[in-house]
Amino acid sequence: MTSLLSSERLDRTTILSLIDRARAFKNGAKASFPDKIVGLLFMENSSRTRVSFEMAAIRLGANPVFLGPEGSSIQKGETEADSARMLDCLRVDAIVVRTGTEGGPAEIASKVKAPVINAGEGKSDHPTQGLLDAMTLLDHFGSLDGKTVAICGDVERSRVASSNQHILKTLGAIVRLVGPGTEYKDLKTGLKDADAVMCLRVQKEREGASYDYAPYKIDHDSIKFANANAPVLHPLPMNRGVEISSELADDETRSLLWKQMENGLFIRMAVLERAFS
Ligand code: CP
Repeated sequence: MTSLLSSERLDRTTILSLIDRARAFKNGAKASFPDKIVGLLFMENSSRTRVSFEMAAIRLGANPVFLGPEGSSIQKGETEADSARMLDCLRVDAIVVRTGTEGGPAEIASKVKAPVINAGEGKSDHPTQGLLDAMTLLDHFGSLDGKTVAICGDVERSRVASSNQHILKTLGAIVRLVGPGTEYKDLKTGLKDADAVMCLRVQKEREGASYDYAPYKIDHDSIKFANANAPVLHPLPMNRGVEISSELADDETRSLLWKQMENGLFIRMAVLERAFS
């Protein structure tokens, strides 16, 4: 019955144990929770987080139940906390929440009995994304101790940047934020000596200042500012040709994008299993 409310609450031992369990699932380990029901309360759009949580529940033998604004009483003005309480009254065994409201998952957790899992919270946090990114980088490097990871672009509006900043630093990495409003406004300086480069989607749908992100586009030319053979990551969905070039995104010798996506399923299985236990 363990919630996952924020990246900051994850210590090194918990991060590594979730990644170990995700690797075991990736290698074929099985777990069976046929009597468990997972409520998926998604107040914002999602493809991969939603589907991978649904798939994770199914792979664990549990049953997912989806609730989003479309076609529900959320459109009649019901709050997300009341919608979560409704799922709780129906005896779901975990509530997975995606919300634009900062503090939304914590508020819900204070009102329900079921464990709550943060599946993306406004501009502030996306813990399972941080975990799957850490797993992907650990798979690539073996250890993150002393590795420099440059996170580039629309940092100010990115929950992926803040989650990764905490989780990767906890695993020993040096995290550089590169973009407008950060210490590293110049891409060349920000990427110097970087061992890995993480692009961020330009999030036009979010409130906050929007800058010219063209100087932060990562392609085969600009990634040369980083260390030779530095891999590139992106949480997806990507704006091809905006924050990353299509050619680099599809270059399997440099791009970890689809490995990140794949690892998301196994991380979410590990997180749901922990929530049920
Ligand atoms: N990376 C991520 O959270 O993608 P979705 O918005 O499609 O879930």
